[in-house]
Amino acid sequence: MDLKIAILAGDGIGPEISAQGVDVMNAVCKKFGHNVSYEYGICGADAIDKVGNPFPDETFRICKQADAVLFSAVGDPKFDNNPTAKVRPEQGLLAMRKQLGLFANIRPVQTFKCLLHKSPLRADLVEGADFLCIRELTGGMYFGEKYQDNDKAYDTNMYTRPEIERILKVGFEYAMRRRKHLTVVDKANVLASSRLWRQIAQEMAPMYPEVTTDYMYVDNAAMRMIQEPCFFDVMVTENTFGDILTDEGSCISGSMGLLPSASTGESTPVFEPIHGSWPQAKGLNIANPIAQILSVAMLFEYFNLNEEGALIRKAVDASLDNNIRTPEIQVENGAKYGTKEVGKWIVDYITNA
Ligand code: IPM
Ligand code: MG
Repeated sequence: MDLKIAILAGDGIGPEISAQGVDVMNAVCKKFGHNVSYEYGICGADAIDKVGNPFPDETFRICKQADAVLFSAVGDPKFDNNPTAKVRPEQGLLAMRKQLGLFANIRPVQTFKCLLHKSPLRADLVEGADFLCIRELTGGMYFGEKYQDNDKAYDTNMYTRPEIERILKVGFEYAMRRRKHLTVVDKANVLASSRLWRQIAQEMAPMYPEVTTDYMYVDNAAMRMIQEPCFFDVMVTENTFGDILTDEGSCISGSMGLLPSASTGESTPVFEPIHGSWPQAKGLNIANPIAQILSVAMLFEYFNLNEEGALIRKAVDASLDNNIRTPEIQVENGAKYGTKEVGKWIVDYITNA
């Protein structure tokens, strides 16, 4: 297969983990005889510094023409504590999602047997947890009408029927391919937008009779996730709730550095870690490349290249089992491997497989 990939490395640890993702992609393509080519685009604080825009038109063009985007991270502390900044790196990420129509963000939460003890939750609770959070990504408060002056501010949480229907459809379809259990997460006891979500979900559920559909308020879902994470198979929710719940979900796995995601919709899909740019770690070769590398696995799987994806997953599992780990998940007194060393070990594993 010919693959044209846009690489958006962004800020902070982005470029370091991006390089590992590219190396893994090259190794897999070589092994399976795929032709891969790359185009690099700037985004985030890096692009603000260079051209004053966190998602320049040229980057959009590069993404639009590609088969897939491998994205890393954006964000820089110089913007974080300045609420009056006119332009922020995160706007680049939001612009990318909106302009590419990436309405469905798939965030798998899974555990790794050898890392169960790294979760702040009891190992017996998290063992076997394996669910998908399907987060709506181009609507809700993130994109609704906003207003801010010195005395008043608001964000509008607006959803239309077509927006809700298309994301619920993604949820039902994933549930069909998995354990056939869908949890619709909302706040229908308080929010009108949530009541419309629930109404539409109830209309659609009979079309998927094999799927057990249940409805859960977001506060309850947040509790259930840490009380009984194995309860969930597929959850589907609006943009803001999904943002919050997936950070919580990363604690089940034990490190934010382990979780990949896929954003799909109308145009080029984007594959990215769920973590941010961790500016404090920039250049230190300590960031975990696994979330980025598993994003590459999701990229292959998106194109039904499942053996390729499976080999990456096998290599990642082997690296963890062999204690080839970045510092935040290394065993006590274990050798600490850097971003590059973990990446290289995984590349070698794939090459020699
Ligand atoms: C995420 C991030 C982004 C979001 C930020 C960086 C804008 O937290 O992808 O979860 O809120 O969507
Ligand atoms: Mg987030």
